[in-house]
Amino acid sequence: MSRFVRAIAKKTMRPLSRTIVTAPSARRSWIPGQSHSNAVPRKESSLRSGSELNIATAASHLSAVDQEAGVVPAVSHKSGVKREFEQWVAFSEKEFDERAIFVKDLGVVDRQLQRWRRTLPDVTPFYAVKCSPDQVLIASLAMQGTNFDCASRKEIELVLSTGAQPERIVFANPVKSVGDLRFASRAGIRMMTFDNEEELDKIAAHCPKAKLLLRLLPDDTGSRLPFGTKFGASFELTPRLMGRCTELGLQLIGVSFHVGSGCYDATKFTDAIKLCRDAFDTAASIGLPPLTMVDIGGGFPGSTSETTTRAIASTVTGVETPDEASFEELAHEVRNAFDRFFPSSDFPDLRRIAEPGRYFGHAFGTLFLRVQGRRLVESNSDDSVEGKGTDECKRFLYYMNDGVYGSFNCKLYDAYHPLPVSVEDYFNNCSNELDELVTDAPPSEGTFFGPTCDSLDKLVENHPIRELQVGEYVAFDDMGAYTNAAATEFNGCRLAVTRYIRSLGPVPTANHSKHN
Ligand SMILES: Cc1ncc(COP(=O)(O)O)c(C=O)c1O
Repeated sequence: MSRFVRAIAKKTMRPLSRTIVTAPSARRSWIPGQSHSNAVPRKESSLRSGSELNIATAASHLSAVDQEAGVVPAVSHKSGVKREFEQWVAFSEKEFDERAIFVKDLGVVDRQLQRWRRTLPDVTPFYAVKCSPDQVLIASLAMQGTNFDCASRKEIELVLSTGAQPERIVFANPVKSVGDLRFASRAGIRMMTFDNEEELDKIAAHCPKAKLLLRLLPDDTGSRLPFGTKFGASFELTPRLMGRCTELGLQLIGVSFHVGSGCYDATKFTDAIKLCRDAFDTAASIGLPPLTMVDIGGGFPGSTSETTTRAIASTVTGVETPDEASFEELAHEVRNAFDRFFPSSDFPDLRRIAEPGRYFGHAFGTLFLRVQGRRLVESNSDDSVEGKGTDECKRFLYYMNDGVYGSFNCKLYDAYHPLPVSVEDYFNNCSNELDELVTDAPPSEGTFFGPTCDSLDKLVENHPIRELQVGEYVAFDDMGAYTNAAATEFNGCRLAVTRYIRSLGPVPTANHSKHN
């Protein structure tokens, strides 16, 4: 553990000795240059190695995170992204380092957190680490009091490595391996979800002090990525599962659900919160001690007015979906549902939590890709490429330095199909209208491929964009959620490099970007 993290752990969080005794593997040093997020220490910032930091307030914790990780302040999102991008281009030319570059803006996340606290003050967010297991992001959220949803030992270790206490983690994978359960038990993790009897047997054997949340099966037909075929107990099973907790001497503290990721029907939250109330009544009817917690899962959109989502969102089956509901719409529905089904007069001590992932991650990352090579598709060629060029519209194949095996795995796993924009359009055009961009496009189209030798590695086909030269870049914003979390180096193609900024800006209000 670096002296930086140790100082914070000692002064503000759990006793360090406990970290060492209960979770030895969480003692990995937090060294930005070696972090999971592929961050590159900037030459000009000396990483902290010496004196213990004098930390008194949350604000100074944040500045400590920033110093340690080389996060650069910026007066606005776009200006900060531009500066980092330009510095990277200069560096990349000099060093022959032609990786793609992510600029990640922690300021966007700060403002999303403020927006959450203003809009849903009674619901504590537990950031879903799977969305972007980025150590700097997690440290920054931890310093600001956010809690965490982890799905595995590795995610737990990542969160603990920032000094956050185990009480701030919900182990929200309804089916956990025995090894992970034993690790969690040893590390002091108590809150966890389950949805079946076999899981209860494992928990009783390996983590008997657990505080359990029964994951219910809600109607998840109003989301891009439903999870109901995999997780969630149907309501009919609740008496049996609750009774089994009692038989095994396990403590059931509440219920959870997930309406599916990318929710576009806010009423699904109302139905699901009603389901939770029914489960509370079931627990009371079979004589369980009163339940005290409702976990409303994830599903919240991540759009902000600062970025322009140029993407097509679909379901896993490929059907295009309606625009997602705004965060404010969902929050309105959640607040009303709690008032209706859990009035504070009857549930004065109810603890409400959520597991937002995309909400924090989506607008956090902007990705720039470089054209490594290109090929003109002749109008009269026998090329087997779909959509040949014409005299009016030139068509190119572009070969880029990141693709579906890397950050764009979101095409496969998140039903999210980002669209490129030329760098000057990206920096000049702050409009939220996708149509405007398409209408203004010059008569040229590009089919963009990733760097591997696989033809499946295709980002977008016949996309209107001005003609690009080798060495030029294109931009993709809103690339922070479910992108590099699952990226690989297949074919030896290197992952995108990451630079961090923390920009200033207004806290977003209701926003309906084209897609999210
Ligand atoms: C258990 C659980 N919680 C939270 C999330 C985060 O969902 P979202 O990114 O839609 O907020 C997920 C996503 O897969 C999940 O599986």
